Amino acid sequence: MAAKPVAPIKRLVVLVSGSGTNLQALLDEIAAVGAEAYGAEIVAVGADREHIEGLARAERAGLPTFVRKVKDYDSRDEWDAALAETVSAHEPDLVVSAGFMKIVGKEFLSRFGGRFVNTHPALLPSFPGAHGVRDALAYGAKVTGCTVHFVDDGVDTGPIIAQGVVEVRDEDDESALHERIKEIERRLLVEVVGRIARSGYRIEGRKVVIQ
Ligand code: GRF
Repeated sequence: MAAKPVAPIKRLVVLVSGSGTNLQALLDEIAAVGAEAYGAEIVAVGADREHIEGLARAERAGLPTFVRKVKDYDSRDEWDAALAETVSAHEPDLVVSAGFMKIVGKEFLSRFGGRFVNTHPALLPSFPGAHGVRDALAYGAKVTGCTVHFVDDGVDTGPIIAQGVVEVRDEDDESALHERIKEIERRLLVEVVGRIARSGYRIEGRKVVIQ
């Protein structure tokens, strides 16, 4: 009997801005099951700032890292082009924004649109933007959660791949609620990235169909 063909392992570049626990969840899963079974490997980790735990996690894992800071460029467009160029050099199949707190621009999206995945700590389209957890709490929502989606040229408006639900408790403050969301978010991100890497997907308008 012919051996089952092994699908190529997809190359991931992960972008971070903070503690990098979502990145760590990806690293841990790939280390646990192996890149072949997971369907993807992380080939580089990038950030928009230095001295963050997300970069330290990548360095401990022996991965190449890079930093592109907006303030080092004359314009936002130049920063965006530099980020796009650096990410491109690692030849990723997918780029994952795992707590990357910058909106990318035209050049980045022209190269990586349709293969740039973001995770957001709210149930989109509710509570987009930088304060999704705080805004859900302030609104008095009884459930919130996290959304893994493709990035388009809006703020957290791209096609949704998967969502996880978290109940809001009366005693929650922003930090307690965010921690519970992140537990679900890390599992969801690991599951979704692996699934789209292994199975492939199509984006039909707003719908993401995993093959
Ligand atoms: C996540 O909740 C992400 O959705 C939000 O920032 C958090 C990043 O956490 N944008 P970490 O850096 O992966 O620990």
